[in-house]
Amino acid sequence: VERTKKERRWGGEHTFIKAQLISDYVSTYGTALKEKGFETAYVDAFAGSGWNEIKSGAREEGVAIRVLKARYPLHRYVFGDLDPSALAALKVDVERLRAARAEEGLATPTPLYVLGDANQLVQSECDWVAADPNRRMVMFLDPFGMQVSRASIEKIASTRRIDLWVLYPIGQALIRLMAKGGDIPSGRVQALDDHLGPDWRSKFYAQPGLFGPQPGRDATIQEVAEFVQATFASTCGPGTHPRGLPLIRKGGLAFWLGFACTNPAPQAIALALKFANELIRRAQTPK
Ligand SMILES: C[S@@+](CC[C@H](N)C(=O)[O-])C[C@H]1O[C@@H](n2cnc3c(N)ncnc32)[C@H](O)[C@@H]1O
Repeated sequence: VERTKKERRWGGEHTFIKAQLISDYVSTYGTALKEKGFETAYVDAFAGSGWNEIKSGAREEGVAIRVLKARYPLHRYVFGDLDPSALAALKVDVERLRAARAEEGLATPTPLYVLGDANQLVQSECDWVAADPNRRMVMFLDPFGMQVSRASIEKIASTRRIDLWVLYPIGQALIRLMAKGGDIPSGRVQALDDHLGPDWRSKFYAQPGLFGPQPGRDATIQEVAEFVQATFASTCGPGTHPRGLPLIRKGGLAFWLGFACTNPAPQAIALALKFANELIRRAQTPK
C-alpha cells in the first residue's frame, strides 16, 4: 500500500537529532573497530522509508541512508520494517545513493532488507551474533510505540556483544496508559507487561489490600521515565548509559533514547560509553 505524503509526516526536530546521533555512533564504531578483526553489523529493525518528513514540512535523510555513508563501513547492514511500502521506498533511495556515490568513485555497502516484525528480526540477528565469537553489532530499535518487547531486550542483552540504542515512547504511549489511576483495561495491562515486564504494576498501582482494592494513582512522566531507565539498566547490565537521551517535543518528554553496551568487558564498556556520552552531550547542545 503506497502511503500518502501526509502519512509519512511525523516526528519533530528530535527526529533529526536522533538520526544524527545514531549515524555518528555507527560511523565512530566502524572507525574504532576497523582493524580489530571483528565481523561487524548494523541492524535497524524499524528502518522506515529512508526519509523523515516532519510536520513542519522539512525533509531529511533517515538513519538507514545516513549509516551507509560511513568512511569505514561495517561488514553487514540489515534493514527491517513491517510495512512493505516503507521498505520498497527505502530500497529505491539506497539504490539512488549507491549510484550517486559510484559516480564519485565511492563504494556503498549493499544492505539486506527484511520484511516483518522487529521482534522476529531481533531474534534472528541475535542468533547471527551468537553463532561466531568474532561478531559484533550495533542495533537500533526506533518504533513509534510499544512494539519492542521486553523479551527482545533480554535476548539482545544475553548476546553480550551488541551495542543497543532503543527508543521508549514515554510521553507518546506509556504515560497515557499509566495515567488512568488503577483502572486499566486488561488488553493494556498485557501490552505494558509485554513491553516492560510486570514490575510496573507494583511500582505504580497499589495491590488489593486487606480492606479491598485500593485505588491506583497517576504516575508522573518523570517517574515513568525513571522506571523505564531502571528496568532497561537491570536487563542490560553495567554497560547501560546512566541517563540516555530524553527527546522533548512541545516542551514535554516524548521519547527516551536508551543506550547499552551489552558486552561486559570493561574496555568495551569504557569505549562505548565514551562515544555515547560525547554524542548525547552534543545532541543536547543547543544549535
Ligand atoms: C519511527 S519510524 C522509523 C524511522 C527510521 N528509523 C528513520 O530514521 O528514518 C518507525 C517504522 O517502524 C515500522 N514498524 C511499525 N511497527 C513495526 C514492527 N512491529 N516491526 C517492524 N517495523 C515496524 C513502521 O512501518 C515505520 O516505518
